[in-house]
Amino acid sequence: MLSNIKSCTLIGVDGHMIHIETDIVKGLPAFITVGLPDACVKESRDRIASALKNSGFTLPAKRITVNLAPGHIKKEGTLYDVPMALGILLSSAQIKSARDLSHTLIFGELGLDGSIRGIDGTLPMIIEAKRHGMQRVIVPFENSKEACLIDDIDVIAVKHLNELTDYVSGAVELTALAGDEQLSDSHVYHADYADVKGQENAKRAMEVAAAGAHNMLMIGPPGSGKTMLARCFPTILPDMTKSESLEVTKIYSIAGLLKRETPLITSRPYRAPHHTISETSLTGGGRIPRPGEVSLSHLGVLFLDELPEFQKSALETLRQPLEDKIVTVSRVSATITYPSSFTLLASMNPCPCGYYGSPSNRCHCSMLEIKRYLSKISGPMLDRIDIHIEVPSTSYEKLKDRSQGEKSASIKERVNRARSIQLARYRGTKTLFNSALSPRQIETYCRLGEAEERLMKKAFTSLDLSSRAYHRILKLARTIADLDDSEDILTPHIAEAIQYRNLDRKYWS
Ligand SMILES: Nc1ncnc2c1ncn2[C@@H]1O[C@H](COP(=O)(O)OP(=O)(O)OP(=O)(O)O)[C@@H](O)[C@H]1O
Ligand SMILES: [Mg+2]
Ligand SMILES: [Zn+2]
Repeated sequence: MLSNIKSCTLIGVDGHMIHIETDIVKGLPAFITVGLPDACVKESRDRIASALKNSGFTLPAKRITVNLAPGHIKKEGTLYDVPMALGILLSSAQIKSARDLSHTLIFGELGLDGSIRGIDGTLPMIIEAKRHGMQRVIVPFENSKEACLIDDIDVIAVKHLNELTDYVSGAVELTALAGDEQLSDSHVYHADYADVKGQENAKRAMEVAAAGAHNMLMIGPPGSGKTMLARCFPTILPDMTKSESLEVTKIYSIAGLLKRETPLITSRPYRAPHHTISETSLTGGGRIPRPGEVSLSHLGVLFLDELPEFQKSALETLRQPLEDKIVTVSRVSATITYPSSFTLLASMNPCPCGYYGSPSNRCHCSMLEIKRYLSKISGPMLDRIDIHIEVPSTSYEKLKDRSQGEKSASIKERVNRARSIQLARYRGTKTLFNSALSPRQIETYCRLGEAEERLMKKAFTSLDLSSRAYHRILKLARTIADLDDSEDILTPHIAEAIQYRNLDRKYWS
C-alpha cells in the first residue's frame, strides 16, 4: 500500500515542501531510500528499525521503498525519521489513519527508544507550510514554542512515536497549542554609555551609526576605551520590527541557537568573534551548512575588535556581504545564500605599539612597520566603512569627573525616532535604513540645496573622494538630518558627515 506524508527541507534560510512516499511490496526484505538522501538520511533506517521495535511495532520483512520528492533537492539531516516511520506504519497497515493528513506537515528525529527529538530550522519550515496552505503541523515537543511563532496554523506537539500513532489513529485527542504566550526574553544590559567618561565625539558617532546602520571604525591608543564603547553599542540599537524579528529568528533557528522556552529574538544581534576566527566560521558553510557570524549578525552588529589582527583572507571575504548584504556559500552540489545585512563596527590601534600620533609621542615604530600594519586594512574595505573616528585617551580630569553622562536609554530614544522616520520614508520599498540606499534612491532622497552642493563639491575635490565615498557621505548626512528631525539635508549635516571621512587620509595616505 502506498502512503504519502508531507514534510519539509531547508535551502539556505528557507523551507521547501517535501513529499515522502512509502511503498511496501512482497519480496526480499530491503529498505531503500531514493530522492537524493545524504548519509544522515540513510542512517535513518537503523534508527527507524529500532524505534519501531521499541514502540511495539515491527519493520516489515518486505521490500520497503521510500521516495523523497522532488528528487532534485538534496535531503539532509535527521528530520525525516518521524514521517518515514509513520509512512511505514501506514503502508504496512500497522495503524490506520483516522485523520486526513493531506494538509499536515510532519518532521522530527527518532531516538532508538521511539522518543521524538527536536531539530534545527523549525521556524522556516512552518512559514513554508503556511505558504502552502497546510492547516496543521506535528512537531517534536522541543520545537513546539518555536512553531507557535507563526499564527493561523495548528501546532500539535509530540514526545514519542506512540503518542503520534495514537493521535493519527484517533485513539487520543491532542489540542493545538496556543501561540499567545510570552515567547521572547527581555534583555538586560550590563553596560551603559553613562559610565563612559568624556568621549563625546565617539558617542555621537555611535548614535549616528546606530540610527542609519552605518559601518564604523574606531582608531585609538591602548586603553582609550574602544572596546568599552563598543560593548555599550547594543544598548542604543533601534528596536526591531516584528518582521525583522522573525527574519533574525529564522537564521538562529537554522543555526540551532534558539532558546527552547523563549525562541523569539527581539533585540538586535551583536556578535563579537575573536580575531582567530576561521573564514568558514565568519562567512558560514561547512559540510552541514550553517550560517556564519556575518549572518548571525544580520540586522544587527558585527564587532571586530583589533581589526588588523584578523587574517587578511578572512577580512577580504567580508567584502561581498558588506556590499551585497548576502553571503554565498559554495557546496559540492550547489551554492546557497544566507542574508547578511549587518553593521560593521571595528576597532584598531594606529600602529603596532599603539601610540602613533598620540600627544605623548611614545611611538617608536618605524614608518615601514606602521605602513605594513595599516595595510592589513585594504582600501576597498576602508571605503565601505562610512564613519572613521579617532578615540583619544581620556584626560585625568574627565575620568575623575563624577557627573553622569547621558544614559543609553535616552540616546536610544533619538535613534528610535530617526529610524522610524526612515521606515516611514522608505515604506513600500525594500530599504529599511539610510545606509542601504541605492545610488538611484540617493538621488531621490538626498537632494541638496545650493550651499550644500557647494560644500560637497569642495570636499569631493579637496579630499579626492571616490564616488563610493561620495555616496556614503550623502547617506550619512541623511541620517544626521533625520536625527535632527530635518527633512532637508543642511550644511551642518554635510559638514559633520565629511568630518567622519577624514581619517583615512591621516593614516592611509
Ligand atoms: N572614557 C572612559 N570612561 C571610563 N572608563 C574608561 C574610559 N576609557 C577607558 N576606560 C577604562 O579603561 C579600560 C580599558 O578600556 P578599553 O579596553 O575599552 O580600551 P581599548 O581602547 O579597547 O584598548 P586596547 O586598544 O588596548 O584594546 C576600560 O575597561 C575602562 O575601565
Ligand atoms: Mg580593546
Ligand atoms: Zn607605534
